[in-house]
Amino acid sequence: MEWSIETRELRRTFRDRPVRRLFRRAVGTPIPDKIALDSVNVTVRPGELFGLLGPNGAGKTTLIKILSTLLLPSSGQATVDGIDVAKDPDSVRQRINMVSGGEHSGYGILTVRETIWMFSQFYGVPTKVARQRAEAMIQRLGLSDSADTKTSKLSTGMRQKMNIIRGFVSDPKILFLDEPTLGLDVGIAREVRAFICEWIKEHPERTVLLTTHYMAEADSMCDRVAIIDQGRVLACDTPANLKRDLAPDCVYRIEVPLWTEAVNPLDQMPVVRSVAMEHRGDQGRTHLRVILEEEGGIASVTDRLAKRGARVLSMTRLEPSLEDAFLSLVGHGLTSSNGENGAR
Ligand SMILES: Nc1ncnc2c1ncn2[C@@H]1O[C@H](COP(=O)(O)OP(=O)(O)O)[C@@H](O)[C@H]1O
Ligand SMILES: [Mg+2]
Repeated sequence: MEWSIETRELRRTFRDRPVRRLFRRAVGTPIPDKIALDSVNVTVRPGELFGLLGPNGAGKTTLIKILSTLLLPSSGQATVDGIDVAKDPDSVRQRINMVSGGEHSGYGILTVRETIWMFSQFYGVPTKVARQRAEAMIQRLGLSDSADTKTSKLSTGMRQKMNIIRGFVSDPKILFLDEPTLGLDVGIAREVRAFICEWIKEHPERTVLLTTHYMAEADSMCDRVAIIDQGRVLACDTPANLKRDLAPDCVYRIEVPLWTEAVNPLDQMPVVRSVAMEHRGDQGRTHLRVILEEEGGIASVTDRLAKRGARVLSMTRLEPSLEDAFLSLVGHGLTSSNGENGAR
């Protein structure tokens, strides 16, 4: 199969900043290179919406920069549409476009419409086609009222919508989106995500690689997700398979009256892998999040609670989430995965 994107043993290291290097040399401490990507092997099929999910500093932007020819790999190989990014960057550039979250692109004196127009011309889009595409996308993303506003006057959300249009206006074969909803309000983030998903549905032969540190964004949008941490890809599969294979599947939330004793009511039970307690003093209740070794263990858990005088007020079996899968794989969560911008 001809992959849309393929990396083989891709590695990228960064040297420390010159001042720090000088200082460290003077002090006599070794100066290891920072490994941003380590033996990364990723394959993306044509037509896929592929997600790179990882915490800050995982190496997502570095990978996107290499694939979009802004940065060279230290070793290993990367191809985009079958073309080696290091050997023939010009041919790669003709097939791609890239949008980053939180970027301040645009020239303040130009309006939204003018900016999009200018970028479409950088990409050599024929005049009539560029106009039609730009207008359709301006309408779809609700930018019509701001289309003649200077970009320096735009809110963050409006600016990001304009950046998104700038990325899509060249109708690229492969599109890189680096944290496209970073820092956006819930509503605008939802609009941007819906726009991306609709575009890929209407252009089933196009490929989108997006990075995110929002769990639900990866879960709800992507056909497949690579979980990346500290420069390494730890798992790569559909969100459903990642949840099935990696997330503990016997997770219950049990509510009992406020548990004030020091000893955990479920301590030393072999069927219980872990239990987290959260006391809700205001409600007079304690929430237990119980992960079982096996499904059958739930009966002995309720027995034990009854014996210890912790009457079960409610019990819910929780669906495994991508976050559970991530936690069990990486060993720590994504710090900003809670309160994320409404991906569900
Ligand atoms: N230009 C650079 N110089 C030195 N270190 C860098 C540079 N760019 C990235 N890094 C380091 O590489 C690692 C990966 O960074 P990055 O790819 O930006 O991660 P992410 O996008 O997942 O947050 C981080 O530890 C970061 O500090
Ligand atoms: Mg980044």
